Amino acid sequence: MPIIAPLSDADPASVERLLDDAFGKDRHGRTAYRIRDGMAWLPDLSFAAFDQGRLIATLQCWPVALTTPQGQAFPLVLVGPVAVAPSHQRDGIGRRLMETMLAAAASDDLVLIGDPEYYSRFFGFTADATAGWAVPGPVERRRLLAHLTHDDWPREGMLGPRHARLAKAG
Ligand SMILES: CC(C)(COP(=O)(O)OP(=O)(O)OC[C@H]1O[C@@H](n2cnc3c(N)ncnc32)[C@H](O)[C@@H]1OP(=O)(O)O)[C@@H](O)C(=O)NCCC(=O)NCCS
Repeated sequence: MPIIAPLSDADPASVERLLDDAFGKDRHGRTAYRIRDGMAWLPDLSFAAFDQGRLIATLQCWPVALTTPQGQAFPLVLVGPVAVAPSHQRDGIGRRLMETMLAAAASDDLVLIGDPEYYSRFFGFTADATAGWAVPGPVERRRLLAHLTHDDWPREGMLGPRHARLAKAG
């Protein structure tokens, strides 16, 4: 049975190799990477899975913010990438990583770019709040998903890196 551990237990070069295998070496230009440009992953909310000592999956989270047209910025956590080695996919590892992260991030407002067929179905992410949120690159609107602690989020804003300590929305 693979074990889930903090991502800091994983060798950084192995993490990069796993992500290259899952998303390709050109992954760094993706919109999700631009949203968290220059940020470091959050140690309390980032996890890895190991099978007999071998890294087989990772989930990273990042500090980002939604900045309104009026210039107010509200903190969010960007979830992803979530990557499971092809040899271990569809074995519940992605779900275990996500559930571990969701328990640790219970008081956080989360956003991600991913398939609603996975992230809505299993974890309750929706695109309801994000229709007016802009991102620094192309995105399919149905794939910009949020998991929020309340309904008072601004309807419009730009997602980007979180450079300052911010008060929560709502
Ligand atoms: C997507 C991914 C994280 C899912 O993790 P996993 O451990 O393979 O999947 P799980 O075992 O947790 O979940 C399996 C279930 O999710 C479904 N599922 C998996 N990936 C899916 C996807 N992209 N879209 C829709 N459903 C998906 C499976 O069909 C299965 O459903 P079932 O139980 O009804 O058969 C993993 O397959 C992966 O790393 N894929 C390549 C990279 C990627 O696409 N990452 C996501 C974008 S950030």
